[in-house]
Amino acid sequence: MKAFEFHNPTKLIFGQGQLDKLKTEVPKYGKKVLLVYGGGSIKRSGLYDNVLALLKEIGAEVTELAGVEPNPRLSTVHKGVDLCRTKGIELILAVGGGSVLDCSKAIAVGSKYDGDMWDFVERKAAPQAALPLGTVLTMAATGSEMNGGSVITNEQTKEKMGWGSPFAFPAFSILDPVNTYSLPKDQTVYGMVDMMSHVLEHYFHQETNTPVQDGFCETVLRTVIETAPKLINDLENYEYRSTIMYCGTMALNGVLNMGMSGDWATHNIEHAVSAVYDIPHGGGLAILFPNWMKYNLSVDPGRFKRLAVNVFNVDPAGKSDEQVGEEGIQALRDFWSSIGAPARLADYDIDDSQIEVMAEKSVRFGPFGNFRKLNKEDVIEIYKMSL
Ligand code: NZQ
Ligand code: ZN
Repeated sequence: MKAFEFHNPTKLIFGQGQLDKLKTEVPKYGKKVLLVYGGGSIKRSGLYDNVLALLKEIGAEVTELAGVEPNPRLSTVHKGVDLCRTKGIELILAVGGGSVLDCSKAIAVGSKYDGDMWDFVERKAAPQAALPLGTVLTMAATGSEMNGGSVITNEQTKEKMGWGSPFAFPAFSILDPVNTYSLPKDQTVYGMVDMMSHVLEHYFHQETNTPVQDGFCETVLRTVIETAPKLINDLENYEYRSTIMYCGTMALNGVLNMGMSGDWATHNIEHAVSAVYDIPHGGGLAILFPNWMKYNLSVDPGRFKRLAVNVFNVDPAGKSDEQVGEEGIQALRDFWSSIGAPARLADYDIDDSQIEVMAEKSVRFGPFGNFRKLNKEDVIEIYKMSL
């Protein structure tokens, strides 16, 4: 276990009926609110009306930024920054999934910076300040509601990259599982694949003596595996939705991985695919993660065996660690396929024509991955395995 500091400043407000807390949280930051949302799901579900009614009750002056795209775009961030400046915004309120939250984080830091927010993504500068951000989450997936990360797509250069800052943590996040009832089955599945992938990214580390962390990770994985098949057949079940929502937040709020550095190569490889083809992040991960695992099984077969036995109940008797590990990878593949996640790039009509371009994008900052460093050739192999 490495030395670490843990500090997560986000106030998490969880459970049915918690939306009302907007009335106590919002006034702490001011009256001028930028309400950020996506392509209209919150209007169809009625959440938009509920949020506006509460904001009206407390006398907030609301400016809206609608239409944040899944895989949010830099041009939308720029629009938000302009609105913050011209309207003197005091609080950004993001209502939606990870894309709305990530876009809002970029607006929050961008509006306190004289240059282009993209400088932060390119590591040319680091945020020094941000507008406060509150969130109302509608999709369990990214963990963005309780972390300082964000992923933005520059549509002009076709780059999709993550960035992070202590200034990008939401001040508060309201998680009412009822607000995820309207999420369709395919997006629900992508979200569960994403949160499992976050846990797997943590799990493939090179530290020693992390028994609690590894056990926490296994518990979250087993819980999603147990709950997912029930949830996809009962999308408005409060218990299942709340379990999955809690798993999504815990998977990427820093609690599972104290004292260890996860791998994160698969996320990088997936972002390059979404940058070029604009596919859902969770769908891309479902295709790529099992292939990253196969490609790296020999690095530490014991770790793959542990996953197979503790999470997928593979019987290790009379088998080598590699065999058990392989069975675990297959069990993960089968599980994701069983809940309807894609298995091949071909499922999104992606062929080998852009592999070189995607691999080049993925190594933008050099070789990457902590479990094993990957270079461009490695990435090309993983893409080929995923066709
Ligand atoms: O835009 P609307 O109309 O709201 O519809 C969205 C969108 O079409 C819809 N949706 C969300 N909640 C809904 C709903 N539809 C009906 N009912 C609801 N309750 O779902 C679609 C997908 O939404 P999106 O926000 O794009 O999904 P997600 O939460 O998976 O976010 C994906 C983005 O987050 C990034 C991804 O790369 C991707 O850009 N990530 C962010 C991370 C972070 N900040 O920590 C980490 C992740 O690894 C990930 O990379
Ligand atoms: Zn992810």
